Amino acid sequence: MRGVLGGTPPSFSRRILHKKEHNGMKLTYELRPGIDQVGYVDYNVRDFHSYDTRLGATYNAYLIRDEKVALVDTVKAPFAQQLQRNVASLVELEKVDYLICLHAEMDHSGALPAMVKACPNAVVVCNAKCKEALAGFYDVSNWKFQIVAQGESLSLGKRSLTFVNVPMVHWPESSVAYMPEEKILFANDAFGQHIATSNRFDDECDLPTLLREAKSYYANIVAPYGRQTLKVLETVKTLELDLIAPGHGVMWRSHIKEIIDAYERWASGKYAPKVLIIYDTMWQSTELMAEEIYAGAVERGQEIAKANPDAPRLDVQLMHARKTTLTRIAEEALDAAAVAFGSATLNATLMPQEAAVLAYFQGLKFREKTALAFGSYGWGIGAPEAIQKTLETLKYPAIELSPIKAKQRPDAAALDACRQAGAMLADAAWERYRNDQ
Ligand SMILES: Cc1cc2nc3c(=O)[nH]c(=O)nc-3n(C[C@H](O)[C@H](O)[C@H](O)COP(=O)(O)O)c2cc1C
Ligand SMILES: [Fe+2]
Ligand SMILES: [Fe+2]
Repeated sequence: MRGVLGGTPPSFSRRILHKKEHNGMKLTYELRPGIDQVGYVDYNVRDFHSYDTRLGATYNAYLIRDEKVALVDTVKAPFAQQLQRNVASLVELEKVDYLICLHAEMDHSGALPAMVKACPNAVVVCNAKCKEALAGFYDVSNWKFQIVAQGESLSLGKRSLTFVNVPMVHWPESSVAYMPEEKILFANDAFGQHIATSNRFDDECDLPTLLREAKSYYANIVAPYGRQTLKVLETVKTLELDLIAPGHGVMWRSHIKEIIDAYERWASGKYAPKVLIIYDTMWQSTELMAEEIYAGAVERGQEIAKANPDAPRLDVQLMHARKTTLTRIAEEALDAAAVAFGSATLNATLMPQEAAVLAYFQGLKFREKTALAFGSYGWGIGAPEAIQKTLETLKYPAIELSPIKAKQRPDAAALDACRQAGAMLADAAWERYRNDQ
């Protein structure tokens, strides 16, 4: 029966039938003879558990065909059939010996129950904590497990995998696997990027885009665990590496040094000479203040540049909290040295998206930044005071002028204070950056 909207368009239902007949496409990428990427490139995902995946994402799984056959990681559950088809196109499923799980999160383990069913002779290989985590998500009562300890090796024939636990990078059971014979690190979430591309190696893609997405990934997923990440990097640097094969995005083979150096920079919280002004407004009074802070910071940046012609320029960014996703705000905030948070007063407190920004900052635990609270109000205590309080919780030192408040439209004195505050934030950012060099 046709509904009020005219029913399902015929082309749509044809497409569904077509998909059913074919069970999704089959596509694999060779890394080495006998080692292939068999995961899924997801062009359409835009919200990955709240992460803004504007460029899509990939869930990388790796099939190793040696004397033994091992699958390293799987994909999200909805793409289990594609994974299964990809594996089956290279080897009979009965011949799969090991289903290796480096991390229990569902973007890597979602298709594991289907693979356990499809591969009757396979044993699930993981560390003890991972087994526990998998049991919390799935009915594993019929699964055969082989538990591997820290540093343990699993021989696959000519090649082997050594398991290294990387606790809290970014879950308790997280681990990576190193193949010494090929100098490949199967890194799971580490060194990943959310980006869908038909080319699967770093040198086949635009490097600045990859590094930006890797940075975004670090800022949004790994940042709270910088200390643990630095420890892992110490181990990674002792390995001979020809290829880093992460669980997301492209594989690193030509720019291994760049991505490891970048991780080191991000994990140690190195400052960039950067000021962010993140605000929300209803009727633009707070926006007028934000723009004045921006102008003050940019102007001071120009003076700093004149005095330091060879140094990098100060980067000042104006970010409307409801027009920029939290993901992109965090990506910029990771290395910002100073930040101003502004909001209009709504119902005696700050506006909800600005509150979300501050809540997100609290969890991500970036290195401290010099800060300013500001905002416009109508008749009472509200947003600037609430932000100022949060700065204390964040342990962000506020400049003396903070909080800057304007009753309704900011008058000349308020705007002047904002301009001055912008210059102070620029100075603070420059100094933090310079002290880090
Ligand atoms: C829905 C709504 C609720 C508000 N609640 C408060 C409040 O609780 N306390 C207050 O001082 N002002 C309140 N205001 C007034 C605004 O804070 C004031 O108009 C301010 O100038 C708005 O800044 P903006 O132009 O940046 O949006 C409220 C305004 C609106 C529209
Ligand atoms: Fe994860
Ligand atoms: Fe992941």
